[in-house]
Amino acid sequence: MLVPAPTSSTPGEGAFTLTGGTAVHAPDAPEIAELLRELLSVPTGLAFPAASAPGDGTIALLVDPDDTELGAEGYRLTVTTAGVTASAAGLAGLRWAVQALRQLLPPEAFARTRVDGVAWTVPAVSITDVPRYPWRGAMLDVGRWHKPIEWLYTFTDLAAMHRLNVFQLHLTEDQGWRFEVKRYPRLTEVGAFRRESPRGHEFFKDTDGTPHGGFYTQDQLRDLVAYAARRGVTIVPEIDVPGHTQAAVAAYPELGNDPENPPEVGVRFGVSRRVLNAEESTVEFVRNVLDELMDVFPSPYIHLGGDEVPLDEWSASPAAQARIAELGLDGPGSVLGWWIGRVAEHVTSKGRLAVVWDELVGQAPAGAVVMAWRARDRVVAALEAGHDVVATPNSDMYLNYPASLDPGEPLSIASHGLPGFGPTPLSKMYAYDPEPGSEPENGARVIGVQGNLWTEYAPTPERAEYDLMPRLAAVAEVAWGSARDEEGLRERLVTHLRRLDAAGIGYRPL
Ligand code: ACM
Repeated sequence: MLVPAPTSSTPGEGAFTLTGGTAVHAPDAPEIAELLRELLSVPTGLAFPAASAPGDGTIALLVDPDDTELGAEGYRLTVTTAGVTASAAGLAGLRWAVQALRQLLPPEAFARTRVDGVAWTVPAVSITDVPRYPWRGAMLDVGRWHKPIEWLYTFTDLAAMHRLNVFQLHLTEDQGWRFEVKRYPRLTEVGAFRRESPRGHEFFKDTDGTPHGGFYTQDQLRDLVAYAARRGVTIVPEIDVPGHTQAAVAAYPELGNDPENPPEVGVRFGVSRRVLNAEESTVEFVRNVLDELMDVFPSPYIHLGGDEVPLDEWSASPAAQARIAELGLDGPGSVLGWWIGRVAEHVTSKGRLAVVWDELVGQAPAGAVVMAWRARDRVVAALEAGHDVVATPNSDMYLNYPASLDPGEPLSIASHGLPGFGPTPLSKMYAYDPEPGSEPENGARVIGVQGNLWTEYAPTPERAEYDLMPRLAAVAEVAWGSARDEEGLRERLVTHLRRLDAAGIGYRPL
């Protein structure tokens, strides 16, 4: 029934029905009782008053720190005809227990408005559930196409309902800077808006002639962070440097390598050559941006990007050449590692951990988490270099690659027969196993798995939902470590899609 499937589940006899009399007993976890109300009171119309003692007809949410078998996020959930009992070693596990309970209810429990005439019945069951990985992620690129802040709440809901605990928010791109920075207002005044966008596939270099843009204020993002945190989801922000920065350079030409000829905010997709220069003042600028970012996002992890950085400008610019000599670097190819080193040390000085894309393997700062994306074997390369790894190989975990190459699919990066971009059908995602087979002796670990949604071809929430669902369910099962059973998953997805229907979230039909 559950998506992702739990570690173990034993059906019981009978069922328990939630009614106006169903009270919640949560002596050590009042915030989890509050979460249960936040999720279930609207669709059910039930108030779930507090109960001072457990007993018949109640939902008990119990913390048992001695239940070490469950780890930080596992839980036990028992439903009998008499009531519901959930327990966990701490609040994190109880949050997932509440999400599991929600899935045990009829699909209408996911509705965003009250649904009358439903029997809120939960089948008797005994579940023990412990995730395999501590990082279970979904990434959203809001740089290519800005999405309404309201939809970022939907994305958070999708993460939480799949017991994914990381929402990586990719906030900056060549085509748009989406994070308000009070010290540098032009980043959003200028950098958040572009003159036009590609029309059709990037390959054809056609344009739509229509301005596009938008950004998120710090206050909006703080509210989102709090909403996600209540659901056990950490929003890991990404400011991508020193490449994918054309919008920033458009806003502040002095950050770039040719201040006399600044670029406009990107209107084409693909990788821009316009990157940050290696001046001390530019490092200082990015550190100031990161200070505001860390103030808004309490995440222990800060993603610094570092992917796809063309060397053209550093190779051609006399100023860059002089700077490379001054820094004692052995050429343009070493600037990336230097750059990330300078910003990572700033992030770690504030007690956070840096995350970088796998281009940094070989020049990443010690202690940085590497997000392996270019191929499966990048996971191994990063482990061997001593880094903890989040596995997100594009071959298996890219949600922007099409689910099939059928002519009926909407436009995607792989359209027009362009090779190398999937497809990544549900079954392929579901079969992915990030473990390279042997643990390196240096102690580095795969800490998690993540599905990434790049949005060149997902301009709207509706399209993004089509790309995400139901494949995000497969990502979640891989990340949670459920026993693989594709037929079983497909059966459960039939019910799962009804949950999405109730929530008003779109999907690609099974
Ligand atoms: C990436 O897909 N450029 C990380």
